[in-house]
Amino acid sequence: MASADIEDAFSSSLVVAWNGDSLASMSAPSGPNWPATIATARLTLRPAHEDDVEIYRRLLTDQDVRNYLGGPVEGERLTAYVQGYARQPYVFSIVTTEDGKMVGAVNIASDGRYGRREISYSFLPEHWGHGYALEAVRAALGWAFDAVPSEDRSIIAVTQEDNSRSRRLLEKLGMEQIDSFIELDAPKAVYSKISDDHPGTA
Ligand SMILES: CC(C)(COP(=O)(O)OP(=O)(O)OC[C@H]1O[C@@H](n2cnc3c(N)ncnc32)[C@H](O)[C@@H]1OP(=O)(O)O)[C@@H](O)C(=O)NCCC(=O)NCCS
Repeated sequence: MASADIEDAFSSSLVVAWNGDSLASMSAPSGPNWPATIATARLTLRPAHEDDVEIYRRLLTDQDVRNYLGGPVEGERLTAYVQGYARQPYVFSIVTTEDGKMVGAVNIASDGRYGRREISYSFLPEHWGHGYALEAVRAALGWAFDAVPSEDRSIIAVTQEDNSRSRRLLEKLGMEQIDSFIELDAPKAVYSKISDDHPGTA
């Protein structure tokens, strides 16, 4: 699949962040309640910054990470995306609290699909299987219900139906599948959750 066809929330939100202006001339990201830092038992979620650029490059080009996200990103689009992370509010780099090593990233798009807040996440393969994604996405989700403004009470996540690791993660978080659709020949599942403080239907 051509990289220009990629349609995943994690990278496509960055097209909005970078519109061709000189990156140096763009101001630091801001938004309500941003920048923010969240601590969990093992991890720190902090705003992405420019020193993280090589990890973002790996997240966007690694075959395993991109397996269900349209394949590796290439060319000018890759350059724009890797530089866009530090220019976008609500993009958390996830680092281990013990040694500061970056293991992945979690992004909340304030105006995602269906006009709702949309959470997406990406971790380096050598850090899969340790519960880091669960720990980080749970913390980001809990924070975002109150911190990221929206007219809608829910937060959604969209994942390919074949992405079993991602679906397991969303189900452990108590998210419920509310819809499905085909995008670029791939069946996708839409999950949703409403804040634990505001129970109701998804
Ligand atoms: C989706 C993705 C984040 C899931 O990562 P993950 O590491 O499998 O997810 P979790 O953090 O929930 O870890 C789960 C595993 O850690 C294990 N684990 C180990 N220690 C743990 C702990 N302390 N707490 C919880 N789980 C733990 C679990 O048993 C589970 O193992 P299993 O995979 O054998 O079932 C990862 O596969 C990824 O980055 N994929 C590429 C990007 C992508 O597709 N994103 C989705 C679209 S937005």
